[in-house]
Amino acid sequence: MSKATQTELRLAKRMARLGTETAFEVLVRARALEAKGKDIIHLEIGEPDFDTPANVIEAATDALHKGWTHYGPSAGLPILREAIAEDAGRRRGIKIDPTEIVVVPGGKPIIFFTMLALVEEEDEVIFPNPGFPIYESMIQFLGAHAVPIRLREEKDFNLDVDELAALITDRTKLIILNSPHNPTGGVMPESDVRAIARAIGDRDIMVLSDEIYSRLLFEGTHFSIMSVEGWKERTIMLDGFSKTYAMTGWRMGYGAMRADLAMHVARLMTNSNSCTASFTQVAGVEALRGDQSSVQKMCAEFKRRRDVFVAGLNKIPGFSCRLPHGAFYVFPNITRTGWKSKKLADAILEEAGVACLSGTAFGDFGEGYLRFSVANSIENLEKALERINSWADRTMRK
Ligand SMILES: Cc1ncc(COP(=O)(O)O)c(C=O)c1O
Repeated sequence: MSKATQTELRLAKRMARLGTETAFEVLVRARALEAKGKDIIHLEIGEPDFDTPANVIEAATDALHKGWTHYGPSAGLPILREAIAEDAGRRRGIKIDPTEIVVVPGGKPIIFFTMLALVEEEDEVIFPNPGFPIYESMIQFLGAHAVPIRLREEKDFNLDVDELAALITDRTKLIILNSPHNPTGGVMPESDVRAIARAIGDRDIMVLSDEIYSRLLFEGTHFSIMSVEGWKERTIMLDGFSKTYAMTGWRMGYGAMRADLAMHVARLMTNSNSCTASFTQVAGVEALRGDQSSVQKMCAEFKRRRDVFVAGLNKIPGFSCRLPHGAFYVFPNITRTGWKSKKLADAILEEAGVACLSGTAFGDFGEGYLRFSVANSIENLEKALERINSWADRTMRK
């Protein structure tokens, strides 16, 4: 057997506990099929297929020309922290101080840094399942106990508050909430958020509230646990620019949290990234304070696509799909096909030419579901539906 190098690679044990995001692996497999000449419709990746709004791009190029090309403060540029505090606070009906904001490269680092700052090995962290796979990955990586709370389809993919209450123990340190939700598109109603706050009561537990899709809402209003009286100082609220302004590649997100925690998250920034890119932060101010019509347009388009895609999925034998209320994912139940999720996702990719994700990419409770991202044109979504339908006809009606 040939060896790539002379010396043995002795990885730290913790690396065996680090997970990943299957979306990127499916993308690689889909690209490999394309390289062999197969036509693939991409519904696997969770990023808007829109361009970043022109005013934001202009603000960034202008900032580059004006010399915003140097290091900045680890917690973020004061002008951006102010703009975020004002915007995030106004949208949630609370007052947020700029010292309570930390700007980081994307939403993900807020998950990583707040857990690094708060979670110890003996701690338990409750997280939504199915859910964004990075939560469980980070909990495991830190050697803490990952405690899944099942999201229930019959509750429109919300959790059952009694079940959550039963999972809370003396060792629970952190509870992760995510609304609008990836991968189900579920949106937590205000009554549920308040019931969760009551169930936690005055135990010394903090909540990481992932609100990265808070502006991509089709029905109802967004309600943050941070807005519940007494909960501001117990919440770390994650939001960012990636999804709202189609800025996934810019890498800019933020956390809102009590100032004495923000200080430590900023220290983690000093130790890892130094700071988020300065010119992107200047453009971030324009994103928040400039014209918001592109956000509304994008959201309306996602809603139109959702309606077309969900209606189409519900006509496919063995599929049944609820209407998601936010984000840009649909999460059909496929149990009546008789197929396991992973096998079905693989077959749909290889035999129907449509890339999607198995529900199990989001945890064990994702079995029985697939995730499709509607970040593609109506024309391609319709083509994907036709392909899956005729594949299902050939395969399942045999
Ligand atoms: C629920 C959730 N949280 C956080 C993120 C991370 O976003 P970012 O690309 O800004 O790091 C994503 C991205 O897919 C997500 O779906």
